[in-house]
Amino acid sequence: MSSIIHLEGIRKSYFMGKQELQVLKGIDLDIHKNEYVALMGPSGSGKSTLMNILGCLDSPSGGQYVLNGQDVSKMADDNLADVRNKEIGFVFQQFNLLPRLTALENVALPLVYAGVSRKERTEMAMEVIKKVGLEERSHHKPNELSGGQCQRVAIARALVNNPSLILADEPTGNLDTKTSIEIMQIFGEIQAAGNTVVLVTHEEDIANHAHRIVRLRDGLIESDKVKVGIGELTS
Ligand SMILES: Nc1ncnc2c1ncn2[C@@H]1O[C@H](COP(=O)(O)OP(=O)(O)OP(=O)(O)O)[C@@H](O)[C@H]1O
Ligand SMILES: [Mg+2]
Repeated sequence: MSSIIHLEGIRKSYFMGKQELQVLKGIDLDIHKNEYVALMGPSGSGKSTLMNILGCLDSPSGGQYVLNGQDVSKMADDNLADVRNKEIGFVFQQFNLLPRLTALENVALPLVYAGVSRKERTEMAMEVIKKVGLEERSHHKPNELSGGQCQRVAIARALVNNPSLILADEPTGNLDTKTSIEIMQIFGEIQAAGNTVVLVTHEEDIANHAHRIVRLRDGLIESDKVKVGIGELTS
């Protein structure tokens, strides 16, 4: 099995004046194609910091990150942005939609940057909007949509470039239980269709949708467990 994510000794520090805050202290992790991984851990343990590195939104202070066979750990920002646009779909807790654009326009936006023609953009965006069940709401703006619908738009936007990796940082953090389950069903479908999914959550119920649970504590991996059967976890 080939690794889509290979992390070796990943470190990340922030400097507050002269004081160094070590947030990630040496993360080794391999994630294979089509895996479905939940990343858990206490607040401040470094989950979002790690997700931002995985998503090429930030660079590590040390260590190696090989994404789909490409060493991205020392890449310059421009190249990193290219890799991000091609390889990664990111879903955030706060949806991060542009308020003046319709659902369809929000979903099509990554294709504008990719230089796809208007006609093709609309067709491709409509296709993923259908996948998340929002056909009827495609011409509405975010403030005319529910939280769950906004998150569907954000998921469709993450999928529109056909990325090899879907990352989601607490995608159900702003949603009620029923809506969270619907959103998790969509992630399940994405994974079943062959994609690789990594998501952060605080909730065990949400994490149980994944096939593998990685727990962080104080910037290190505390445990990494693959599910072998329903409700059954082993190292
Ligand atoms: N840009 C930054 N500058 C300085 N410190 C930061 C920065 N970003 C994060 N940190 C610190 O790094 C640590 C880890 O933060 P991170 O956001 O990765 O945690 P988390 O596990 O995602 O927490 P939560 O569950 O609350 O979202 C925290 O102590 C945080 O204050
Ligand atoms: Mg976080």
